[in-house]
Amino acid sequence: MSDHPILFLPGPTECDAELRAIMAMPLVGHRSKGFIEEVKAIIPKLRALMRTEQVAMFENIPATGMMSGAIRNLVHDRVLHLTCGAFSERWHKVSQACGRTADAVAVEWGEAIEPEQLRAHLTSHDPYEAVVITYSETSTGVLNPLRELAAVVREVTPDALVLVDAVSALGGAELHFDEWGLDFLLSGTQKCLALPPGLCVIGLSERALAKAATVKHRGFLLDFVKSKKGYDAGKTPATPNIPLVYALSRQLDRIAAEGLETRWQRHLDMQSMTRAWANEHGFAYFSAEGRQSPTVSTFRASNRSVPGLIAKALAAGFVLGNGYGKLKNETFRIGHMGDHPRERLAELLAALS
Ligand SMILES: Cc1ncc(COP(=O)(O)O)c(C=O)c1O
Repeated sequence: MSDHPILFLPGPTECDAELRAIMAMPLVGHRSKGFIEEVKAIIPKLRALMRTEQVAMFENIPATGMMSGAIRNLVHDRVLHLTCGAFSERWHKVSQACGRTADAVAVEWGEAIEPEQLRAHLTSHDPYEAVVITYSETSTGVLNPLRELAAVVREVTPDALVLVDAVSALGGAELHFDEWGLDFLLSGTQKCLALPPGLCVIGLSERALAKAATVKHRGFLLDFVKSKKGYDAGKTPATPNIPLVYALSRQLDRIAAEGLETRWQRHLDMQSMTRAWANEHGFAYFSAEGRQSPTVSTFRASNRSVPGLIAKALAAGFVLGNGYGKLKNETFRIGHMGDHPRERLAELLAALS
């Protein structure tokens, strides 16, 4: 048995001893030669993770902060949000809070946005500068069909940028930044990357960077044009979370050693195991059939008590997620993401049985 409860939350997720030990090492300065070299080394590793040859960077900020950064850098005024749960709705609110004209194609929580819905909206409205898509909607366990949605944007409004929330997807769900024609992606370290929260990693297309250069008042810390110049020289815009940067670097090496495809498959396998368990025990998915995320499964509690299930998991040494927001007691979530081996998930499922 572990010396602490093992996190099967949909973030933050379990962070193993090797990575935690790196973060306990003595500090170095962020302008030291060694750290500058580390920053330079990390960028190509991030590119590989996102499958892009374009721009990758990171910043000390929760994903929510980077949502504002993206809007302030990449959108003068008109942006479309595809909303289907708490986090996609959050980015919509962020755009409104930044004073942009933010429209939405909204579906019920638990549903995914389908490509034809997006096509119908785009063909009946003035063009948008950007379309915002949440790949894995952590609140409902829905995986939106990102590749197909991005293809619709590219086809119908080729000038619109495709901005993606991949917070609970990057490193767990299949994703090809360049091949799928994405322009911006944000993700946090606390989900499929199995690290503590604290850094937001981003991908940026060259055309998005060129667009940013035309947008006024991008802000200071999150000015992508200025940051890119710094990162090219291994210099972060401000003092980063130095220990976490080292741990991220090591984790990116470990992910490369596992192999991205193998990692994606492990997540799919964990999803299948969870599905089999739910079928056996009579739990129905909250998320629409065929649109379920490989990193987080959300089930209806039906006549079972969510606090009861969570207590049962904890007694066996595991932390399970309750429902998000308004779904708190109606659903529960199993975050099978990050570095969990299949065997550990099997232990959790057996304990819940
Ligand atoms: C899909 C998604 N987007 C955004 C966020 C917000 O991330 P943060 O708490 O790092 O701002 C989360 C957090 O759970 C998330 O799951």
